[in-house]
Parts: sequence; C-alpha cells; structure tokens
Amino acid sequence: MALDNENTLARMEAFEQDGPLKGLRVAVAGGTSGLGLALVHEFASAGASVAFVARDRTKIDTTLTDIPGTHGIAGDISRKEDIYPIAMEITGELGGLDVLINNASSLGPVPLALLGDTECEDFEQALATNLLGPFRLTKALLGALAVSARQGRGAVVLNISSDAALNPYPLWGAYGASKAALNHMTRIWDEELSPEGIRFLWIDPGDMDTPLHALAIPDADRSTLKRPEAAARQAIETIVSALPQYGRSRGRIVDEATR
Ligand SMILES: NC(=O)c1ccc[n+]([C@@H]2O[C@H](COP(=O)([O-])OP(=O)(O)OC[C@H]3O[C@@H](n4cnc5c(N)ncnc54)[C@H](OP(=O)(O)O)[C@@H]3O)[C@@H](O)[C@H]2O)c1
Repeated sequence: MALDNENTLARMEAFEQDGPLKGLRVAVAGGTSGLGLALVHEFASAGASVAFVARDRTKIDTTLTDIPGTHGIAGDISRKEDIYPIAMEITGELGGLDVLINNASSLGPVPLALLGDTECEDFEQALATNLLGPFRLTKALLGALAVSARQGRGAVVLNISSDAALNPYPLWGAYGASKAALNHMTRIWDEELSPEGIRFLWIDPGDMDTPLHALAIPDADRSTLKRPEAAARQAIETIVSALPQYGRSRGRIVDEATR
C-alpha cells in the first residue's frame, strides 16, 4: 500500500501500537461494509493483524486508507476458483491464522421474493455465498487453524448468521435456508474439531443499519437499527472468550478490546 502523506503514516503508527489483541491473526470475509468493516476496524484498533476480503476493489482501497496496516484481498467467496488464492493470501499476509470470520452474505433475490417466485440462480447465489463459500474457505484454512490450535494460541471460526435461520420469515426463503444450513454446519464442525482445539461458533448480530439491511428493507426506520460497531464488539467478545491464549486475563482483554 502506498503511503501518500504524513497523516497516513501517523495513523498507521497509531494502529501499530500495542493493543490487547496484538499478535492475534484475524481474517474477515466481507470486510468493507457494515458489520465486516466494523470488525476490521475494532480488531485493528485492538492491535490484531487483520486481513479482509471483498469483491469491489474501490471499497477495498478505501478501507485500506481508512484502516492502515490491514491487508485487503480482492476475491469472491461464492466462486470456487477464488477460494485457494484468497486462503493463500490470508496466510501469506498474516503468517498464519487464528480467527476466521465468515461474514460476507447474499440475500438471494432482491427485492426479496416468495420462494415460488425465486429464480433458481438467486437461490444458488445465496447458497454459494452463505454456505458453500464459508465451507470452502474454512476447509482451505483448516491447516493454518490447526497449527494455531496445536501451538496453544487457539483457533476460532465465527460464522455470521441471522434470526432468519431460526424463523421461517416469508420472503426470506433463500437467505433463511442458507443461514439455517450454515448454523447446522457450524455445529457439526464444532463437534468434529473442538477436541482438536478449533472452535466453531455462530452468532446472529441482530438488525443492523447496513447496506445489506437497506437492500432488504428499504423503508426501515434506521434509527431503530443496531449500529454495526456494537455488533462487532459483541462478536469480538464471543471470539476472545473462546481463545485459550486469553483465558486467564479474558475479562480484562475483552474490556480493553471492546472499550
Ligand atoms: N444487516 C443486518 O441487519 C443483518 C441482520 C442479521 C444478520 N446479518 C448478517 O451479518 C453479516 C454482515 O451483514 P451486513 O449487513 O454488514 O452486510 P453488508 O453491509 O452488505 O456487507 C457485506 C460485506 O461482504 C462483502 N461481500 C459480499 N458478498 C461477497 C462475496 N461473494 N465475496 C466476498 N465478499 C463479499 C461486501 O463487499 P463486496 O460487495 O465488495 O464484495 C461487504 O464488504 C451477513 O452475514 C448478514 O447476513 C445482517
């Protein structure tokens, strides 16, 4: 990343200061908007090394400028052929991986549609982004996560889900079905790999004021929606609580990282 002025350098130094999560290596799939952007910001502010993925190069560059010291990776997690290049860039940039957050998401049809009116291609896109993408990216990064677990650093995969995974909301069929499957996959991964020290968790971040929400419900009252930064801090608390390296000082670390 080119440093074009002294301000950028000063902000970069600020981000390179020690923080409560210094040394933690975090990848966020879908890190240039909404919750993902807030996660990149909060983790970087807490001293973690952060790589993030998104499709739009312009938004990646803006994020890199706004949050210096992070690593932006252009790729589409719904495309099988993008997964290994993304995974290799993540581990190459971070020198390993402790935390993977599968946050990128597709609504399926926009405007939202009844299942009977949903095009097969839109249903496939929801599954490709919300289920297959997290499956493939996790699988490609399992080796790196297993190394972290063996070294006692701990390893966490956090999959971002939704209340639509639990409730059969009309119009949310493609999205809801994909998120329900994501939850179940998360629980099975956790049964299979938590004995090896890799934890798999999912959260519903709640209704947030983000571009995705605006796309789904354009006439929502934004003042009633949660700020993505608040959801990001809750997600970080969930992750840190599952990492043994922060075991003894967990309360303090969570306080400092989410202050
Ligand atoms: N907002 C809510 O109210 C709400 C409620 C419950 C759950 N959630 C969940 O919370 C998570 C974050 O949602 P959000 O509202 O923050 O979404 P958002 O504002 O739309 O941000 C999505 C991010 O993911 C990236 N992305 C999307 N598709 C991608 C793909 N195929 N490959 C790589 N990157 C991709 C986007 O960048 P590019 O477009 O450039 O790729 C962007 O950085 C999602 O999993 C969503 O389902 C949201």
